[in-house]
Amino acid sequence: MSQQKQKNTPWVVGNWKQNPKTPDEVCSLIGGLSGLELKNCHVGVAPSTLHLPLVVGRLPAGIAVMAQDVCATSGDVGAYTGDVSAAQLAACGASWVIVGHSERRAYYNEDNAVLAQKIAYAALANLGVVLCVGESREAYDMGKTQSVLKQQLLVLQDVDIDPKNLLIAYEPVWAIGTGLTPTVAEVETVHQLIKATATQYGFSEDTPVLYGGSVSDKNAPDFAKSPNINGVLVGGASLKPDSFKKIIDSFVSN
Ligand code: PGA
Repeated sequence: MSQQKQKNTPWVVGNWKQNPKTPDEVCSLIGGLSGLELKNCHVGVAPSTLHLPLVVGRLPAGIAVMAQDVCATSGDVGAYTGDVSAAQLAACGASWVIVGHSERRAYYNEDNAVLAQKIAYAALANLGVVLCVGESREAYDMGKTQSVLKQQLLVLQDVDIDPKNLLIAYEPVWAIGTGLTPTVAEVETVHQLIKATATQYGFSEDTPVLYGGSVSDKNAPDFAKSPNINGVLVGGASLKPDSFKKIIDSFVSN
């Protein structure tokens, strides 16, 4: 076991995205997580904003409740139709928020300026931030992964957040929901770049960097073995409690 692995308790985060449809289905997902072994592993679950209050208090103790998005225009209350602020999320029991997911970047044109605002408001409300970065298939094929990530990580130069409240998730866009993944060696190289870049902006080399994109109970053990992969952000497989629990087990037993 490497030094880094000992220092960083890994994270396994389930991003439910716009799932499931009904409150009953939310309750059965939560029921499927009962009996979770949380020793040596942080676990987080990010339900849709609508389902946050349903999830808070029902999840097994110790699982962090995460939001999937936060308002960029205001951190508190006010005339912002359709938005949900960092203060509201915190008051409803969320302790983290995902920022910069590639689906938000693609469908809502979120750029570094918007993301910096979101991170700033999250920090003010004492929410932790899971900052997602990742390159498109085209950028990957053209060997531009590093330059894309450096551009995305520029957002860190403008933010004032307690380093212990920051997780970075490397999610290649082409790996999300496709069943494709980079090799563990490729992920390790990228994670080293992310850590080195975060250090330039005043964050610690120990900033946890998670991998996300088609993580399954089959490939999780390989990711879990790497000292440079400090956890995973899981989409589809987090909607299958048995798979999600196996993924957690892979990180617990490493
Ligand atoms: P996936 O999604 O695990 O379904 O590929 C990951 C993500 O988008 O966070």
